Amino acid sequence: MVVSSPVEKPQVPDDLGPIQEYDRRVAAGRLREDEHQRGIIQSLQHLHDELIQYRAPPVVHPTFESLKPSKSLFGWFGLKAGTAAIQQIPDDLPRGLYLYGDVGSGKTMLMDLFYDTLPSSVRSKTRIHFHNFMQDVHKRLHRMKMEHGNEIDAVPFVAADIADQANVLCFDEFQCTDVADAMILRRLLESLMSHGVVLVTTSNRHPDELYKNGIQRESFIPAINLLKSRLHVINLDSPTDYRKIPRPPSGVYHTPLDNHAASHIEKWLRFLGDSEHPEPHSETQGVWGREIHVPRVSGRCAWFTFQELIGRATGAADYIELMRSYDAFIISDVPGMTYRERDLARRFITFIDAVYESHAKLVLTTAVPLTQLFVSPDEFRNSLKKDGKASDDESDAESVSHAMQHMMEDVDSNIDQLKSSNLFSGDEERFAFARALSRLTEMASRDWVERGMGLEQLGGKKEKDDWAKVRSRQMEDSM
Ligand SMILES: Nc1ncnc2c1ncn2[C@@H]1O[C@H](COP(=O)(O)OP(=O)(O)O)[C@@H](O)[C@H]1O
Ligand SMILES: [Mg+2]
Repeated sequence: MVVSSPVEKPQVPDDLGPIQEYDRRVAAGRLREDEHQRGIIQSLQHLHDELIQYRAPPVVHPTFESLKPSKSLFGWFGLKAGTAAIQQIPDDLPRGLYLYGDVGSGKTMLMDLFYDTLPSSVRSKTRIHFHNFMQDVHKRLHRMKMEHGNEIDAVPFVAADIADQANVLCFDEFQCTDVADAMILRRLLESLMSHGVVLVTTSNRHPDELYKNGIQRESFIPAINLLKSRLHVINLDSPTDYRKIPRPPSGVYHTPLDNHAASHIEKWLRFLGDSEHPEPHSETQGVWGREIHVPRVSGRCAWFTFQELIGRATGAADYIELMRSYDAFIISDVPGMTYRERDLARRFITFIDAVYESHAKLVLTTAVPLTQLFVSPDEFRNSLKKDGKASDDESDAESVSHAMQHMMEDVDSNIDQLKSSNLFSGDEERFAFARALSRLTEMASRDWVERGMGLEQLGGKKEKDDWAKVRSRQMEDSM
């Protein structure tokens, strides 16, 4: 079933169109003023105003007779696709909208704002993810053929049913990846429009880029032409928007938890989060029916204290969900962990692995240097003594810390040594500690930190958008 919501009462008065609602949300601090979006809101407002005047014609259902193939003197001929049962598109049908642009450009937000402010003259409206819509359409087509035989031309009939449920139909993420969709889309859309349905849709691509390299693409071209001629095609990508704020000069990890730790976090939050509105707010993310509370968020950066994230019963599934929702993480107040805190250490390493594997960014404030995060100097000193590798006079704090540093610095080449030392011997988890340190080192590199930030010297907004696509594809592949 298409999720349909008949408009009983207007949620907002008719005069409160998209522009006023945008203003209201900006004033309430829910949206940030964006000059480029404002230009697009004008188009939404224009359609809104047209819809106040527009009355969709009553839906005329095609007769079954008209949907059956006609018999001519010369035998059976199928109906020429799209000729008979689809009526003309009415002249006064308002032109719909096709909003396209990169991930995160605000397409869904704008379409929802349009949907929420539709005037009360619109008798029924539906907002649906396009993929779900097409699944529903195929189900209905199948049912028609089961009931009335395979030769029936079911598309106009199904379109009439849908038109009964929605005068305005809003699709999120219009796309065509499937030959079965490609073959019916033009007739379906044309049929809907002929019943006076106004279409508004978002998409990641320009219509010309739809179904690129698809099977029998040439049969899909009329659908593209229909979209281009009947909808206003609007690009949401804002003009090159270079990130002006430079990255903090300090590294991403700060030790110890002194009074510089707070400013370390503040600077990185501003750089990795929303630099204009760095003040964090809280959010909630859903994971398999549970919820993760994210106490502080700015833009795409989430900030937890160690206790808030690792101190709770969280695990890999939670971390993966977080990686989808955020690009950067600040974990503050990380304690040194010894053998006694192995559960915490294990959980923290699972988190570090998730950050690393999803190519997200990580900022830490820690009580002890990284090399001592999972093994205390005492534990290390004892292991060296047992191995007979350090004499007593060498085992002062400085040489232990030097030895630890050396061991952690190049984990790969030290793997054998690590495995044979009694500190790590036969213990995969301890090896995971060492690998986590190696990953932390890599994530502190300039390349890692600056990639995808849209910094001017790296290519600005385009670099950022390209990286967002790479990351989301990697997440899909790896999960
Ligand atoms: N002007 C704005 N101010 C604040 N947040 C915005 C603004 N425009 C979009 N957003 C937010 O940015 C995120 C991405 O927008 P979204 O509409 O989902 O993008 P798209 O559908 O193009 O991928 C959403 O969380 C949205 O609420
Ligand atoms: Mg979207």
